[in-house]
Amino acid sequence: MVEIIPSILVKTREELIEKILAVEPHVDSVHLDIADGIFVPNVTILGFEEIGIVETSLAIGVHLMVSKPENHIVRWLKTPADRFVFHIEATQRPREIIDAVRETDKLVGIALNPQTPISRLEPLVDYIDFVHFMTVEPGFYGGKFIESVLDKISEFHYFYPDKPIQVDGGVNLETAPKLIKSGASKLVVGSYIWKSKDVKKAIEELKKEIKSLES
Ligand code: DX5
Ligand code: ZN
Repeated sequence: MVEIIPSILVKTREELIEKILAVEPHVDSVHLDIADGIFVPNVTILGFEEIGIVETSLAIGVHLMVSKPENHIVRWLKTPADRFVFHIEATQRPREIIDAVRETDKLVGIALNPQTPISRLEPLVDYIDFVHFMTVEPGFYGGKFIESVLDKISEFHYFYPDKPIQVDGGVNLETAPKLIKSGASKLVVGSYIWKSKDVKKAIEELKKEIKSLES
């Protein structure tokens, strides 16, 4: 079962609420992008305060595009978010982060930038709940989809067929089928949804495309 997860990359609490309300009737969870201006050249809301205030039935996953995520994870674990992704390129202390999350009932995944090899996952893969492949350079909506990541995803899926794969960046009606064929089961979707005139219709069309592959 492939899941569509709208991404929310915002600079204000108002935008956060607006986007959550727009997708709430159509999906089960959202992906909250957090950028610190250090690991990536963009800055978002801090997030951990804002999501405590927002009322929503949606599950919230958090994508930490921040340097030294080990310094952030403890306060995030106190929020209602139920899953966290950190970048392997951003930390020397991945086990500390993984262990902190695993002490709770929340989930943890590792993100790999487009150029980062899957060998970086090998010592850690048994300890994480899922892998998060960036299919654009991280930081912004609307990045260019990097086709070569498809081979990396297929290779990882071949070696670890049971490890769930989430993909993030440039997902649309054209790229979603390729990503699913490579092994992805969770599609994080930004511009395709937010640039459409009709959020509901955009999500429905993507769901239809996915269903046609599954049948
Ligand atoms: C970008 C973020 C993504 C982004 C996806 O670095 O991590 O989650 O919001 O947006 P699109 O789908 O526009 O590439
Ligand atoms: Zn993201």
